[in-house]
Amino acid sequence: MKIAFFGAGQIGSALIKGMLHDDKVAALDIYVKAGHSQTAENLQKELGFTLLTDLSDLTAMDLLIIATNNSSVLPILKSLPQTVLAKNIPIVSVAGGVTLSDMKAVLGTDYPFAHCIPNTPVQVGAGVLGISFTKNIKQEAKEFILKSLAPLGSVYEVPETDLEIVGSIAGCTPAFVAMFIESLGDAGVLHGLKRELAYELVEQMLQGTAKLAIESKIHPAALKDGVTSPGGSTIRGVAALEANNFRHALIAAIDATMSE
Ligand SMILES: NC(=O)c1ccc[n+]([C@@H]2O[C@H](COP(=O)([O-])OP(=O)(O)OC[C@H]3O[C@@H](n4cnc5c(N)ncnc54)[C@H](OP(=O)(O)O)[C@@H]3O)[C@@H](O)[C@H]2O)c1
Repeated sequence: MKIAFFGAGQIGSALIKGMLHDDKVAALDIYVKAGHSQTAENLQKELGFTLLTDLSDLTAMDLLIIATNNSSVLPILKSLPQTVLAKNIPIVSVAGGVTLSDMKAVLGTDYPFAHCIPNTPVQVGAGVLGISFTKNIKQEAKEFILKSLAPLGSVYEVPETDLEIVGSIAGCTPAFVAMFIESLGDAGVLHGLKRELAYELVEQMLQGTAKLAIESKIHPAALKDGVTSPGGSTIRGVAALEANNFRHALIAAIDATMSE
């Protein structure tokens, strides 16, 4: 399967790395159309994909992924040669601010395309991706897109009106969680742990807690209750978090990411 990317910035490079992760897709099958800077060229030296210069070469692709700034998406769609569009090669845009309706105005009602919001852990195949499809897409094209994105992590089809909150809960939060790891690491260092060990303990704990929640389906409150012995150290920590508005801070942070 040959995939062409427009854009190899933060999320474009994460998606490319995710496709290459564990050799799920060969570097030979990844093509990237660079922007105006050296970003794509530099990444090409590291990852070994092919830089695409002639847009007519896109006819050989099975999937196009657009991972550029919002303002470039529609001009890119308009620049696609008729020979490419005639092949109905599915297109996925991950640009936050360009809607299916915007894309439909360029591609038409029957072209197979999707709007997707991935998060940065896609680069290690552990991403969360929300995706919405254009209304008239054929089941076969939809399944092909879902299968193509599967190496990147867990893909959830949602109505496009929910993509923003999905992007906030799963796409913005890797930044919050990185701050969480850093803060708990600082606490470990404050109490004498070496920094590297402190980070590793937190990272493993996060992975384990998420795995336990996913596999057991136990309610988050019950998982918390299971750690808090009467009069114990954990409940004292929980009380200190509550005194500092921990839960409200997280709800307010997500609320702040939303456009309205
Ligand atoms: N970052 C995330 O975690 C994340 C998650 C989900 C969705 N998104 C969405 O993804 C989009 C990109 O975000 P980003 O953080 O990756 O931005 P970014 O780091 O600025 O990357 C954008 C890339 O697009 C390239 N580009 C622009 N116009 C192009 C064109 N005509 N042809 C080919 N490449 C072009 C730029 O290349 P040059 O600089 O070389 O011109 C740049 O490398 C945004 O719409 C954002 O909402 C981001």
